[in-house]
Amino acid sequence: MLLNQPVFRWIHKLMDQFDTPILCIRLGPSTHVIVVSSPDLACEFLKKQDEIFISKPDVMSAYLISDGYLTTAMSPFGEQWRKMKRVINRKMLSSPIHKWLQPKRDEEADKLLWYICKQINKQNPGDLINVRSVSQHFCGNMIRNMIFGTRLFGQGTEDGGPGDEETEHDALIDERIQMWNNGARKGKCDLLDVLINLEYPNLTPEEIKAQIIELMLATIDNPANTIEWTIGEMINEPTILKRAAEELDHVVGRDKLVQELDLSKLNYLKACIKEAFRLHPFTPFVPPHVSIEDTTVGGYFIPKGSHVLLSRFGLGRNPNVWTDPLRFDPDRHLRGERKQVVLTDEELRMLPFSTGKRGCPGMMLGMTMTTMLLARMVQGFTWHAPYTEQRVDLVENHDDLFLAKPLLAIAKPRLPSYMYPKY
Ligand code: HEM
Repeated sequence: MLLNQPVFRWIHKLMDQFDTPILCIRLGPSTHVIVVSSPDLACEFLKKQDEIFISKPDVMSAYLISDGYLTTAMSPFGEQWRKMKRVINRKMLSSPIHKWLQPKRDEEADKLLWYICKQINKQNPGDLINVRSVSQHFCGNMIRNMIFGTRLFGQGTEDGGPGDEETEHDALIDERIQMWNNGARKGKCDLLDVLINLEYPNLTPEEIKAQIIELMLATIDNPANTIEWTIGEMINEPTILKRAAEELDHVVGRDKLVQELDLSKLNYLKACIKEAFRLHPFTPFVPPHVSIEDTTVGGYFIPKGSHVLLSRFGLGRNPNVWTDPLRFDPDRHLRGERKQVVLTDEELRMLPFSTGKRGCPGMMLGMTMTTMLLARMVQGFTWHAPYTEQRVDLVENHDDLFLAKPLLAIAKPRLPSYMYPKY
């Protein structure tokens, strides 16, 4: 296995060779790794039997990242996972809190336009915008603003991006705890204030720090990777970009910036995002689920302690499920009865957020951020390949599912200049 890098490509090649949607690899005497790439089996694991496949692997890297399994995503099944998942679901990402934090997200959506404009202005018209970097900054700033009430911890860079000091969370958290203890801070303004003041259950400073790092990691790469691929696909298929821009003009107009309330009406735009989730997931697999009992799935005996890898890559590109699976075709999500495009799939033909007890608690926030990022980028700008090229190079990395090179493109404002926020 060590010789067959990257392992995820080797595993999918094996599944193709054996023409199977489920594969078991034995690691050492007792660990069974089970890979799944069909919707029926995914439903068995994540819907019918999700109470059995509810744990996570006990491995050193997860232990260290989560400061000894203090957090949600990395922790094996148990009381600590239950406690932190409840805190996230009920106290951090509930609908009322989501609404409470909307002004911070609105601020970041406006700053996104300003940030792109600033880069266009200081460049020659033919110079390029790094779409990956713009998307990552947007997501990073947004989660920082919601958690810490500030988008940049220090001065940031000259062009409005984050500076080196952005990683210094712990000192900020300690300082804030101190402010609450000595009465210097009284009103709750952000998620950090909420976490510090929780009573049932109470969180230790270590739990707060570890959980915040995990949430920041969970929030940045998924939306940013999705939008980088979507813009790339749109540049190479200008009719898709044109349809998305026309939808924005029709639903929102050109004299108002798209707002969160508009997002549910942008069906074509959502279909583009859903297509990027299907074809270009951020990771090949959902993080492993570990079974806590012996069981049988699809007629196969699965021993307790098995590691199940649900393949986002294998499901999204499964030719038995999707026609012409390698083609970026948003229209495939607009066919059929359903009038509203939703970014998840009931039948688990793709797994953007996974589902069940270990499913993503940040779905509402993740969908809002991803859709707003694309909506503002398409409403505010036209996007083109560099002048010397006809198309952008949409080559996937060999070792992961990122674009091999960050997407560089030309952006031109498409709204009247007074529409772009200035700071
Ligand atoms: C487009 C955005 C996002 C996508 C595509 C996404 C996707 C996922 C996926 C696939 C999982 C694994 C679920 C499983 O193991 O079955 C997950 C877990 C998780 N996500 Fe997200 N996520 C996104 C945004 C967010 C945000 C914004 C947050 C929080 C601020 C978040 C917090 C978490 C947490 C805490 C878990 C672990 C849940 C558990 O193990 O019980 N995610 N996410």
